[in-house]
Amino acid sequence: MSLPEGFEWGVATASYQIEGAASEDGKGPSIWDTFSHQPGTTWHGDHGDIACDHYHRMPEDVNLLADLGVSVYRFSISWPRIQPTGRGRINHAGLDFYKRLLDNLEKNGIKAAVTLYHWDLPQALQDEGGWEVPETAQYFAEYAEAVGRELSGRVFQWITLNEPWCSSWLGYGVGVHAPGIRDFTAACKATHQLLLAHGMAVQALRSVDRAPVGIVLNPHVVRPASPSEDDVAAARRVEAQRNELWLEPLFFGRYPEELAHWYAKHWRGFLDAEPSELQTIAAPIDFLGVNYYSSAIVQAYSGPVAPGDYLADLQAHEIPPAFRDATPMGWRTDPDAFAELLTHLHKEYSTPIYVTENGRAAYDYVDPEGSVRDLERIDYLSRHITALQTAVEAGADIRGYYIWSFMDNLEWAHGFAMRFGLVFIDYRTQERIPKASFRFYQDVIDRNGL
Ligand code: FCB
Repeated sequence: MSLPEGFEWGVATASYQIEGAASEDGKGPSIWDTFSHQPGTTWHGDHGDIACDHYHRMPEDVNLLADLGVSVYRFSISWPRIQPTGRGRINHAGLDFYKRLLDNLEKNGIKAAVTLYHWDLPQALQDEGGWEVPETAQYFAEYAEAVGRELSGRVFQWITLNEPWCSSWLGYGVGVHAPGIRDFTAACKATHQLLLAHGMAVQALRSVDRAPVGIVLNPHVVRPASPSEDDVAAARRVEAQRNELWLEPLFFGRYPEELAHWYAKHWRGFLDAEPSELQTIAAPIDFLGVNYYSSAIVQAYSGPVAPGDYLADLQAHEIPPAFRDATPMGWRTDPDAFAELLTHLHKEYSTPIYVTENGRAAYDYVDPEGSVRDLERIDYLSRHITALQTAVEAGADIRGYYIWSFMDNLEWAHGFAMRFGLVFIDYRTQERIPKASFRFYQDVIDRNGL
């Protein structure tokens, strides 16, 4: 099995999860710095003050990327490194880190997929309303333009936002991500502002650079628990919330009507959105980034709604996977759904697709011989690469596949307990140990497929 010539094999990371250096070289605090230092928000009180210390070990890490053989490295830029309060003058000491990273990547012939926002909003902007207010979207566009101008000609592809569903619904609705707000009205507003921020950033980037621009979503395959009308309707609502709420405005300049009516109980903004705003959101993009990990099985539910339970609010309930199908994250392994999703997205939105994240958490450890034999991860990856191949053979226009993650890192509220890396990090010594999956992926890249 092999993929078309020129297919991009990559790995992905995000600034807050790996960099550390939380207040070095003028970096301002982000909402994740604040949130992770509040008691009870993350597993074990883990935070990103040091994380993988990538900020100081970047050259060594790029050497590992070169050894792995990837053609693309997807990383994110920490907004508060560039603008400590989210606006105004550029902090060149912070920006220089990314310029040095690009130097090192270029030396090794590795292309850069740059995410401008992977959840680390400058705290100063959160203090003024964060993603609930239009000013933040405006500031984001200014930040995008400044970075775009500074790095122009050196970036393979721009990604405005990573998984805005998580920013808005986990951050402002469910409250398990920064800024930790539990309010569905806030989540609806954040949805709209994030989409606007994306659209404005697309325009801003195009004014200063010619590289392709896209957005990364985490669309879901949602299956009803039974063929009953109620379960099917519940699954449809969840699917609309996870997928069409984002894809329809981005590609067609409209919010899904039924869902907009459903959410009118919290916020009328989806129904009342101005045509000019929808036009901004639907600024043409060059590709869609898709992060895929698992699928969901959903049942109708009509009981009380606990604060932050967005599924109950949609009158739905998710059935957890059987133990043998679940990863330590509690996520169902479902490679068939991956192939289905890619084929579906290709058909509905006819856009080039990059799989910008796919991977598996495991409780990896170093064995007495000094190796990390992460066979479950290799199994997961080979099944998903097979599914990818199936979708490509069925005609889906998929241009690249990036594994989450290059190295173990801070898995947000799950802290360092969840390891996703191809490279093991010993957090006491910061030693990097390539796992068995690293060798596996080297072979995949060499053969351009499984
Ligand atoms: C995605 C995030 C990424 C990582 C993986 C496991 O939702 O984009 O940062 O945490 O999940």
